[in-house]
Amino acid sequence: MNEKEQVAKEAINYIKDGMIIGLGTGSTANLFIDFLSAKVKQESLNIKVVASSTVSQIRAINSGLSYISLDQIESIDLYIDGADEVTKELEVLKGRGYDLVREKLLAKTSKQFIVIGDKSKMVAKIGEKFPIPIEITPIAWKIAKKLITEISQKCDLRPNAAGDAYAITSYGNYVLDCEFKYDDLSKLASEISQIPGVIEHGIFLDMTHLALIADQGNIMKYS
Ligand code: 5RP
Repeated sequence: MNEKEQVAKEAINYIKDGMIIGLGTGSTANLFIDFLSAKVKQESLNIKVVASSTVSQIRAINSGLSYISLDQIESIDLYIDGADEVTKELEVLKGRGYDLVREKLLAKTSKQFIVIGDKSKMVAKIGEKFPIPIEITPIAWKIAKKLITEISQKCDLRPNAAGDAYAITSYGNYVLDCEFKYDDLSKLASEISQIPGVIEHGIFLDMTHLALIADQGNIMKYS
């Protein structure tokens, strides 16, 4: 079992019968969906799921999980998702999978948000390995990019996977991937949020309750 599988399996221990569970997006979250589906079938659990992206929604439905639409719920019990970067202080960067709006809705509304990942996700400072994704409304992209560029070092529209057009989120928006030099992450997050045309960004602060990180056969827990 590799580290992503180990940590996805560990997250299964936090499932309780009767829960509404938020499913994340990405390779680690996919493994969790598969483990969850197996557990629900084996133990005939009454679990309902919502998903942070169309991709994980389809995976959940195909694996037989009982899916409810996000617009039918006001809160969820548990959200399990991967991340691109995590600090020991539980600052989290997400968004390589485009769906910042749904991911942040689930993180914010969940009674418990658990981030799962391998040790490559641990960083001393958010933005160390990846640019910060910012979802923007398409009509504002030039204006938003210009305004963000005033506070960032580098900011580019994200191309799609084929590299022949721009990436489009589930809500029909573009994503800017931006690099910042900053001292105060919370201040940076609120500065980004205030820029007109910005829908959401990938900095998740004060939302994560626990990070499970697989490291050489051990599961490190940060809370
Ligand atoms: C998607 C995310 C993912 O959780 C993040 O990119 C991690 O993916 P993976 O588990 O494949 O490394 O934030 O927006």
